[in-house]
Amino acid sequence: MDEQTLQQRYEDLKQQIHFHNHRYHVLDAPLISDAEFDKLAIELRQIESAHPDWVTPDSPSQRAGAEPSEKFVKVRHPRPILSLANAFGGEDARGWYERVRKLDDRVEKARFVVEPKIDGLSVVLHYRQGIFVQGATRGDGEIGEDITTNLRTVRSIPLKIPVEKGLSNKMPGELPLFPDVRIPETLVVRGEVFIPIKDFEALNKRLEETGEKTYLNPRNTAAGSLRQLDPAITATRPLTILVYQVVYSEGGQVPYSQWELLAWLKRLGFPVTNVVQCFTDIEAAIAFTETWDKRRDELPYEADGMVIKIDDLNLAAELGFVGKDPRGAIAFKFPAREVTTRLLRIEVEVGRTGVLTPKAVLEPVEINGVIVKNATLHNFDYIAEKDIRPGDRVLVKRAGEVIPYVIGPVVELRSGAEKPYNPPDTCPACGQPAEHFEDEVAWYCVNAACPAQLVRNVEHFVSKGAMDITGMGIKIVEKLIEAGLIRDVADIYSLGREDILEAVTKKERKTEKGPPGKVADNLLAAIEESRRQPLNRVITALGIHGVGEVSAADLSRHFPSLDLLRATSTEQLQMVDGVGPNIAEAIVDWFSRERNRKVLEKLKAAGVWPVGMGGQPSASSGPLSGMTFVVTGTLAGFSREGVKEFIEQHGGKVIDSVSRKTSALVLGEAPGSKFQKAQELGVKVIGEEELRKMVG
Ligand code: IVH
Repeated sequence: MDEQTLQQRYEDLKQQIHFHNHRYHVLDAPLISDAEFDKLAIELRQIESAHPDWVTPDSPSQRAGAEPSEKFVKVRHPRPILSLANAFGGEDARGWYERVRKLDDRVEKARFVVEPKIDGLSVVLHYRQGIFVQGATRGDGEIGEDITTNLRTVRSIPLKIPVEKGLSNKMPGELPLFPDVRIPETLVVRGEVFIPIKDFEALNKRLEETGEKTYLNPRNTAAGSLRQLDPAITATRPLTILVYQVVYSEGGQVPYSQWELLAWLKRLGFPVTNVVQCFTDIEAAIAFTETWDKRRDELPYEADGMVIKIDDLNLAAELGFVGKDPRGAIAFKFPAREVTTRLLRIEVEVGRTGVLTPKAVLEPVEINGVIVKNATLHNFDYIAEKDIRPGDRVLVKRAGEVIPYVIGPVVELRSGAEKPYNPPDTCPACGQPAEHFEDEVAWYCVNAACPAQLVRNVEHFVSKGAMDITGMGIKIVEKLIEAGLIRDVADIYSLGREDILEAVTKKERKTEKGPPGKVADNLLAAIEESRRQPLNRVITALGIHGVGEVSAADLSRHFPSLDLLRATSTEQLQMVDGVGPNIAEAIVDWFSRERNRKVLEKLKAAGVWPVGMGGQPSASSGPLSGMTFVVTGTLAGFSREGVKEFIEQHGGKVIDSVSRKTSALVLGEAPGSKFQKAQELGVKVIGEEELRKMVG
């Protein structure tokens, strides 16, 4: 190949690679395979290594490989990079409309473009003669930092526009972009760099697997990635961009309608949002915004609102601005889901099985209309992994049905006085040493006489799904335990009227409405009534680790009495649906403990010794056949038993604990640890609506 043909081939290769890169990274519609793409890139690199003097900054090879820099150089933006005023709800948005309408009556006939407000980093991209020559952060709006080499690594940023050759209307005879719009010699656009949620989750999963520190959220990660001095690191982060504004242009024309501008930018090769609509009526624009508030989880990226923009960009510009906020647009903010607040302290709660669970006590903060004072910290490993320290400013998330949880500390805001947190080595309730079992993240108080555990045990024993003893409130339970009248759950059946009268506090008297004698009599009647509960409820009430209402019902079908159940082996237990080796082990272990044997004897003596429960066999075919479900939290349209019945009627199975094999977790209000487990194992999480949909 002679020099000229080779150079021609080189130019051609660059163009082809840009084109296919755009098909893949922007349009998500590749035309060739990865291998074919790699072949083009290799050929390009071969030519470049033989002719280094040919290499131009728009060559696809320039996306990676730049040297790390010492620091970022400051750059002045050609025009101020403005921000937006916020509206919180429809009323605010109408207020904005009224204000601009009064300023200029052309607003009355204006159209409005509504697009997502992406929660990323604003960047400014400069193109000269169609070539990407500089990229900068927003900085203070006047001066930003030059991060060109980092931005070159973002595959969806075109290094050359238009990406498709045929689009340049500088070439006579070729298809123009828009009849009267010539691509400017200098074009400065603005967009938002971000990490799509899926890519963020995959990134964190990879980091977790290699034992590295995970990131807090997509936004912080994107910000950190863009400000890396070494572009090779930036190149490994799944950054992408959506472009929405022309900041400056020279030597050409730009559409003066936002709606057309987006279409124009798209045809040049810039990624632009496809969630966008143009309205002739402000009310319709607000309605559209409000639908997206509800549908925000459908967006592949984090959005903190929608932007309502006056479509006529000349009119918008003429309206001027207030401070740094242009009057021609408004950010309609979605309610926040993540806020920062101070972690005052970490409290440890003792569960029924002795599990010690850390709980965050927060400086009260409003998230999405609710004051949050406490949040879950999952477990002690989580605290260590995220290095969450008392006194830290922490990021707290409350979204949808999920209980608020601490995402992690904002390390930049540390004073230096925060000390790493150490899990307690004793139980906070009884002072006995805490223990840790191999293969388990939890710490336990193994003292069977721990008063905190006993309170939880009794609370569980009397709960609705177990023995259902109404009127036995937590205060009464605590009093009875304090007075030494309840040492285990079986003692409930030897309580006398006087004992209860003693324990009934003022509060109970009020809520139960009636004289203390009446309260005591009602409670005694409820206790009496509970002696006739069926076997499945008694098994549930025992509170064996991993045995919930669902397994208890299955167990009672296989082992129609407690005598049979306590005499069984782990092998036999595992023949019951939904009982795996861990639950089987826990059951055998429970019955082998001296203390529990005594409780059983006492229950038997008290006549709490039911036989059989007689459940119906489940349907074996139906839309859910072959699927297993786990339910956590309270569902709006189903009781616990109801949802189980529903799933079984349609051929599915309900089990108590989540494993990799679980088809889906059905999530209700205030879910328990099963939810976290499902997320960890990548098990699908569905709501009750979706469950109903699955059966048609
Ligand atoms: S328009 C004059 N459109 O939101 C134009 N901004 O609080 C002003 N943002 O700093 C910006 N998505 O970084 C606009 N579709 C969008 C946006 C968007 C995200 C960011 C932008 C700005 C902030 C305003």
